[in-house]
Amino acid sequence: MDKAATQSGSRISVQDLRAFCLEAMRRSGLNEADAGLTADVLVTTDMMGTFTHGTRQLRGLLKNVRSGRINPRAREEIVGDGLAWVMVEAHDAMPPAVSCRSMELAIQKAKVCGLGYVGVKGSSHFGAAGYYANLAAKQDLIGLSMCNVDICMTVPGARAKVLGTNPIAYAVPAGDERPVCLDIATSTVAATKVFAASARGESIPDNWLVDDEGIPTTDPRLYPEQGALLPMAGHKGYGLAVLVEILSGVLTGAAIASQIQSWVLDVPDRTNQGHAFLAIDIAQMMPLVDFKARMDGLIREIKSAPKTSDAERIYLPGEMEWERHDAAVTEDILLPSDVVANLRGLAEDVGMDASSLFPAEG
Ligand SMILES: NC(=O)c1ccc[n+]([C@@H]2O[C@H](COP(=O)([O-])OP(=O)(O)OC[C@H]3O[C@@H](n4cnc5c(N)ncnc54)[C@H](O)[C@@H]3O)[C@@H](O)[C@H]2O)c1
Repeated sequence: MDKAATQSGSRISVQDLRAFCLEAMRRSGLNEADAGLTADVLVTTDMMGTFTHGTRQLRGLLKNVRSGRINPRAREEIVGDGLAWVMVEAHDAMPPAVSCRSMELAIQKAKVCGLGYVGVKGSSHFGAAGYYANLAAKQDLIGLSMCNVDICMTVPGARAKVLGTNPIAYAVPAGDERPVCLDIATSTVAATKVFAASARGESIPDNWLVDDEGIPTTDPRLYPEQGALLPMAGHKGYGLAVLVEILSGVLTGAAIASQIQSWVLDVPDRTNQGHAFLAIDIAQMMPLVDFKARMDGLIREIKSAPKTSDAERIYLPGEMEWERHDAAVTEDILLPSDVVANLRGLAEDVGMDASSLFPAEG
C-alpha cells in the first residue's frame, strides 16, 4: 500500500483510502452498492480538500449504524411524484447513498421536463452538499443540493440556537473551463471547523461563534455546550438558511429546525433530516455548446478583472477544489492529522488493523 507519514498528516492514495472505507463499511453491514456510493462521496470530498466533510465523517456514520439510527439494510422509498418532482422517504438508509440516488432521480426528471426537484425526508447526515450538485454538472445539467441540520446557529436578534448550518451547493458545467461549484454552510463556517480548531487548541476568528449572551467569542471550546454559530454575512446567510429549511424540511415533511435530532449526539431518536436536490437540463433551453461557450466567457471575464496588489489570481467558486482534486489523482491525498486520528479510531471501532496505512507520526 502506498503511504507516507508526514508531520502534518499521512499521504495516502485514493485507491487505498477508498478500499479502507469500503472494508469499514462491509464490516458494519453495509451492502456493496451503498458502501460504494458512500466511499465515492467521502473520498472525492477529501480529494477536493474539504477534509472536514470527507472520510472524517465515516466514523460517525458507522457509529450511527451500530446504534441503529442508520439502518444498513434499509432502502429509500418513493412516496409521491409528479412530472417534475419526486418525494422520497429515506427510512434511515445510508444518507450519502440515498442522496446520490435522489440527485439521479432529479436528473432523470429534468431530462424529461427541463427541471427536476427531489425532496427527501427521514434521512441523516449527507456530508458535503457539493458532491451531489456535481453529479448533475457531470451530466451537463445545473445541479443544486441542500440539507437541513439540527439547530446550532443563531439568527439576527436571537441569543439561542435557532437554525442549523443548512449547507447549500450549486454546480454548473462549462466548456473548456471547469464546472463552477459553490459549496457552503449558511453559517460563517461549518461546525466541524470549530471542532477542528478546538482539537488543535487554536482560537477562531470572532465572526464564527457567539457565547450564551450573543457576544462574539474566539474560544471554540465553548461550543456546542454553550453559544451558537453565526450565520454567514448576517441576515443574508440567515435568509438562505431559511430557504434551505423550507425546501429540505418544510416541503418534504422532514423534521424542521428544533425537531431535528443531532446525528452526532448519543440520542435514540431518528435524526429525520431533509434534503433537496434540483436539476436543470440546459440543453432543453439553449444549445449546450452555446451555454458552455457563454459560461467560459463569464468565467474568463471574472478571472481577468483587475486584481488587488496582494492577489495573484482570481478564483471561481470550485476552482481551488478542482485543482486539489487533480493533485490528489497524481500525488495522492495528504490527510490532515485530525482526519488520520479519526480514521485510526474508526479502524479500532470496526476491528481493522490500520497501522500500515496510517503509521504513527514522529
Ligand atoms: N451536511 C452538513 O451537515 C453540513 C453542514 C454545514 C456544512 N457542510 C459542508 O461543509 C463544507 C464546508 O463549508 P464552509 O461553509 O465551511 O465552506 P467554505 O467557507 O470553506 O467555502 C467553500 C466554498 O467557497 C469557495 N471559495 C472559497 N474561497 C474562494 C475564493 N477566494 N474565490 C472563489 N470561491 C471561493 C470554494 O470554492 C467552495 O465552494 C461544505 O462542503 C458544506 O457542504 C455540511
